[in-house]
Amino acid sequence: MEIIIQPSPEIATTVADRMLARLIREKPAATLGLATGGTMEPLYRELVAMNLDWSRLTTFNLDEYVGLAPGHSQSYHTFMRENLFAHVNIPKQNVNIPDGLTKNIPKFCATYEKRIQAAGGIDLQMLGIGTNGHIGFNEPLSSLASRTRIKTLSPKTRQDNARFFRPGEEAPSHCITMGIGTILESKHCLLLAFGKHKARIIAQAVEGPVTSMNPASALQLHPKVTVCLDAAAASELKLKEYCRWVFDHKPGWQKS
Ligand code: GLP
Repeated sequence: MEIIIQPSPEIATTVADRMLARLIREKPAATLGLATGGTMEPLYRELVAMNLDWSRLTTFNLDEYVGLAPGHSQSYHTFMRENLFAHVNIPKQNVNIPDGLTKNIPKFCATYEKRIQAAGGIDLQMLGIGTNGHIGFNEPLSSLASRTRIKTLSPKTRQDNARFFRPGEEAPSHCITMGIGTILESKHCLLLAFGKHKARIIAQAVEGPVTSMNPASALQLHPKVTVCLDAAAASELKLKEYCRWVFDHKPGWQKS
């Protein structure tokens, strides 16, 4: 696991954007795994400004709320359209986001997995992290071998995400999410976390035991994970000085 600690979220975002841009330039028909959440907004803004060619890329989003139509203001379809897809030249048919209105969830999830495989697997999976350690919407106690499926959101996640819904509007209780097993099959995972409120869960995910109580800790089992942090999110890492030293002394040929 490579831990990259930068002084600010802005600089850490630029580091992550450079990695994404490099992949898109080197492999124009790459398959990207995309994430939502506030952490991703500046990342997508910068990526859009880079004017890259998205015409041959395929994307798979991690998750979507069950019961929300694609046009709902808080659906992840809307998030992706507003933050990214409306501003790049990706063909509609290359965009895959779980369907929150599907009538047959198990069948939809099995098809989603097959579509990822048919696309050659995910080259780079973007990940945020919930304050309870969720990646995608794999809440604590998710099986580390799980595949795309329905999940019940934890009270903590519903509380964290309630701010996005109008007063009186109930935040959804269920979602469809890629599983931890699905995520672990990506060729490269790039996790971003910023802010003091993420410091404890990041320290546990990176330095703690692998446990379904902190789903992000499963990334320790993946051969190629990059974790991009700002100083606040890295503040509880015991080995933060070591991580900084490693990054500052990376051999030239390894630098992106
Ligand atoms: C949601 C998404 C996650 C994301 C998390 C973090 O719950 N399903 O994929 O990682 O938000 O959000 P934020 O970046 O706003 O902290």
